[in-house]
Amino acid sequence: MSERTIVITGASDGIGAAAARALSVSGDRVVIVGRSPQKTEAIAAELGADHVIADFTRLADVRALAAQLLRRYPRIEVLANNAGGIMGARELTEDGHEKTFQVNHLAPFLLTTLLVDRLVESRASVINTSSAANRFGRLNLDDLGNERKYSPNKAYGDAKLANILFTRELHRRYHGRGIVTAAFHPGVVATSFSTGSTSIMRLVYQSALKRMLISPEKGADTLVWLAGTTAGVDWQSGEYYEKRTVQSANSQAADAGLATALWERSIDLVATDLLPQASTS
Ligand SMILES: NC(=O)c1ccc[n+]([C@@H]2O[C@H](COP(=O)([O-])OP(=O)(O)OC[C@H]3O[C@@H](n4cnc5c(N)ncnc54)[C@H](OP(=O)(O)O)[C@@H]3O)[C@@H](O)[C@H]2O)c1
Repeated sequence: MSERTIVITGASDGIGAAAARALSVSGDRVVIVGRSPQKTEAIAAELGADHVIADFTRLADVRALAAQLLRRYPRIEVLANNAGGIMGARELTEDGHEKTFQVNHLAPFLLTTLLVDRLVESRASVINTSSAANRFGRLNLDDLGNERKYSPNKAYGDAKLANILFTRELHRRYHGRGIVTAAFHPGVVATSFSTGSTSIMRLVYQSALKRMLISPEKGADTLVWLAGTTAGVDWQSGEYYEKRTVQSANSQAADAGLATALWERSIDLVATDLLPQASTS
């Protein structure tokens, strides 16, 4: 297989960094995308990889990231939308969206949509890091920012459910044109996850209990497997995986109408006059 270009967001730490390490030994070109310049540069230097800095709380950064990727890489065979996490008190971004929803859903939605022609030409795999927390989600299209009822867990569950709905709708719209896509839960992984959160989950991730969690390398296993194997043979596009196996998700994740409506609402929310037209057939 000739050298592929694999773009991983959230590759400056945790699961994304572990996936970048594993995938860079196979002769592919891995592009490290991170928020912290220091951490991102350190992983890139360790791997001899390219890197790009982008803060997903700023959609302008996501647009600049997409422009840079399009300029630098004539093909992108894998896009791993992995950056994300659980937040603290409800906060709006400079774009006016609830932060958890923007970082975990709107930013990767915008990035993927801006890259979509390149992804189609490259017959790319788009791999989305979701979470078993999708089961705590209950999406309300009229209150995607949880203005009425916010908690860090609810916002995170909604966003991770949105990752699965996005995967299903990306499959529906673009599989016929060559894109394959899957979402996955990495497990409960000892990373920097929840560091800035006020969620109860912080007790598990940032205490002595952390020793009981699986390693970032194990957490990256399904991502690395999806990136290195063939959709239609080894895995099914449009599905949600855990431990390399299709998993059931929140009942809302099976709602095709909701997936389409979320896509359309997301286009509105990221100001889509600048986006390429997506097929609705
Ligand atoms: N750990 C778990 O048990 C677990 C379970 C289920 C799902 N997940 C999901 O797995 C993914 C990776 O998380 P992790 O566990 O590896 O946590 P992590 O160690 O905290 O890594 C998170 C990554 O996302 C980046 N990131 C966070 N906020 C960002 C922002 N505003 N803009 C751009 N990048 C941002 C971080 O960048 P910097 O480090 O440069 O700031 C880092 O590279 C997340 O989507 C998370 O929701 C994790």
